[in-house]
Amino acid sequence: MAQFSESADVPDMGRRQFMNLLTFGTVTGVALGALYPVVNYFIPPASGGAGGGTVAKNELGNDVLVSQFLDSHNVGDRTLVQGLKGDPTYIVVESKEAITDYGINAICTHLGCVVPWNVAENKFKCPCHGSQYDATGKVIRGPAPKSLPLAHAKVAEDKILLTPWTETDFRTGDAAWWA
Ligand code: FES
Repeated sequence: MAQFSESADVPDMGRRQFMNLLTFGTVTGVALGALYPVVNYFIPPASGGAGGGTVAKNELGNDVLVSQFLDSHNVGDRTLVQGLKGDPTYIVVESKEAITDYGINAICTHLGCVVPWNVAENKFKCPCHGSQYDATGKVIRGPAPKSLPLAHAKVAEDKILLTPWTETDFRTGDAAWWA
């Protein structure tokens, strides 16, 4: 006959083990805390911003201020921000006073790696399987089947507002495949 003990006798894991558990918990907490901004970077914001689009955010989750952004970047730079749906998106510095009016989604159209910008070669090169995209994000070498998606980027009150690009893809003359 089976007997179940429902008493308050919690198995004694021993003080040392308990302290280890506590320490582990603390360390895990610290590690999670440190990871939070990184993880948060890839999680879509709860709301898309006030009407006019999604405000681009930096890796810490703060709104990108265009004045500071232009001061701290060179013409031609392509810099990752958190864009539509939290997607990593490149903002392009067009001149000392302006960003380009479009952002480039950084997610490779092959299998989804984030594609780094290669300054020396003036193109985006995916480290995963070698796909390449020109400076506008147009695919120039596979296996990626398509160009990187675009988003409209406009400046309002020193912030970057991103909105979906649903029109013709100016790089190919085709319909926007991602829309
Ligand atoms: Fe970029 Fe495969 S994920 S080439």
